[in-house]
Amino acid sequence: MSDLSLAPAAATVAPLPAEPPAAVPRHVALVMDGNGRWARQRFMPRFFGHKQGVDALVRAVNVFADRGVQYLTVFAFSSENWKRPSEEVSGLMSLVLVAVSKYLTKLAGDGVRIRIVGDRSAVSEKLRKAWEHAEQLTKDNHRITLSVAFNYGGRWDVVQACRRAVAEGLRPEQIDEAWLASHMALSFAPDPDLFIRTGGEMRISNFLLWQAAYSELFFTECLWPDFGAAEIDAALLAYAQRDRRFGTIRPNQVMPEGI
Ligand code: IPE
Ligand code: IPE
Ligand code: MG
Repeated sequence: MSDLSLAPAAATVAPLPAEPPAAVPRHVALVMDGNGRWARQRFMPRFFGHKQGVDALVRAVNVFADRGVQYLTVFAFSSENWKRPSEEVSGLMSLVLVAVSKYLTKLAGDGVRIRIVGDRSAVSEKLRKAWEHAEQLTKDNHRITLSVAFNYGGRWDVVQACRRAVAEGLRPEQIDEAWLASHMALSFAPDPDLFIRTGGEMRISNFLLWQAAYSELFFTECLWPDFGAAEIDAALLAYAQRDRRFGTIRPNQVMPEGI
């Protein structure tokens, strides 16, 4: 007779997620890093790298959509990026305005739904209006949702959700993970399955701290303006080979009876 303490613990094993993880991520989060170094390698000003970065993003959205990704969330300007020299900050602000006027019609025609996530209070009225227009114009598109995180920080996101709980007069026991998740900036999207960072740094830099709890991480040396279809496919292939367990174990990892 087998030792009961070693018997398979099937009944106590937590159930796997209802849906097995798909080979293609539904939601990809992307830290578009390396524009400055890309420009420096070409003896050009950093702004040139940012400009190329916008073009790289427009190309990448279409590749991700073609591969079946439904949500793409990109880090365009962090809460901490205000610490950069004021010329770079104002250059980035004007670049966003130019990017909207240059690419909005194309993205709208490509079936891209645009959302902006982050603290809008610190940006100009002109930029806020441009974003509202972009969101309004593309709201019924459903090929892919492109969320642009601008003046976004993962810590800001948690704090703004907590502030809403207090403002709504919630009691402590009414606040749980589901409530917070539904009041975070990306409440309209599932959590990111895949988190990519270009540019070689292996850190999160205050991006989606809450939502990336179980994302698969993929870091690449490729600088953002060079991140094209081949690099996207390499990241998606790496993702497809991951074993996502969400804290549980696979049934075939449970010891067979008698062992
Ligand atoms: C990322 O590229 C874009 C923004 C942060 C706006 P960087 O500007 O950080 O480029 P590197 O990291 O200096 O090369
Ligand atoms: C992260 O890149 C933010 C964006 C890509 C918008 P940074 O270049 O600002 O990150 P750190 O400073 O290297 O951590
Ligand atoms: Mg950087």
